[in-house]
Amino acid sequence: MRDTGGERARRLFDERAASGSWAGLYRGPSTLRSHPFQARFTAVERMLAQIGSVECALDVGAGSCDFAPLVQDLGGWYAALDTSIEMLRLGRDSKPGMFVQGEAEALPFSSGRFDLVLALGLFGFLPELGPACREIARVLRPGGVLIAQGGKRDLWSRLGRPRRMDPTAVEQPVPPRRLDRALAAVGFAPVLRRYVDFIALPRRFRERLPRTMIRASHAMGRMGPLFSPLARSHVTMYRIPAV
Ligand SMILES: C[S@@+](CC[C@H](N)C(=O)[O-])C[C@H]1O[C@@H](n2cnc3c(N)ncnc32)[C@H](O)[C@@H]1O
Repeated sequence: MRDTGGERARRLFDERAASGSWAGLYRGPSTLRSHPFQARFTAVERMLAQIGSVECALDVGAGSCDFAPLVQDLGGWYAALDTSIEMLRLGRDSKPGMFVQGEAEALPFSSGRFDLVLALGLFGFLPELGPACREIARVLRPGGVLIAQGGKRDLWSRLGRPRRMDPTAVEQPVPPRRLDRALAAVGFAPVLRRYVDFIALPRRFRERLPRTMIRASHAMGRMGPLFSPLARSHVTMYRIPAV
């Protein structure tokens, strides 16, 4: 069988789910490992509060479906799709909704079915962004909202390894400009962006000062785009025209 990016991602996340390394990232104590997940959760929570209400939401690359309660708090019906059945298993027993194993590049839903799509931590695992972007645009109704998250290389890693990426890595960085371009090609415009997971110090220092780092990261997040070169991640809300 051909080793596509999707198959590698599925294997990786099946293993992560089975090893228990995913559990507790959102609800456990704030550590250097869990902080990026918890910071992204807060950013999504704030964006959803701005939207106010949701009817029907699809979480693509939903993993353990940790965003389901946020949708349900807004009165929305929640559907989750992931290539890894093991990741979905972590979430589906405790949450109401629909749980589907599938690929972001071929969503098994009718056109215009959803008013909100979430795609957090997904795009970095896709060999190409275009097919999934097209599918997300198709299943959203006109005027619908996408909240997407992508990773970027922070200043320290760019200084340390200028312009070098490992082409065999399962996850690739998806900086804001790359995601904006891919989504603009199918009609999306960015309306709101938050940077999260700030790295104020090079690795050997931050591992010695984890609590200070987490506090600094929250503070930088509150200060807006000023510190964006130090952020490792962005969460962006996009809208598709209402026609
Ligand atoms: C980093 S996890 C993020 C999970 C969740 N969205 C979150 O933010 O907690 C990425 C998820 O995307 C899924 N994934 C990767 N490639 C996919 C694809 N082509 N189609 C659907 N899901 C995919 C993985 O199985 C994994 O559960």
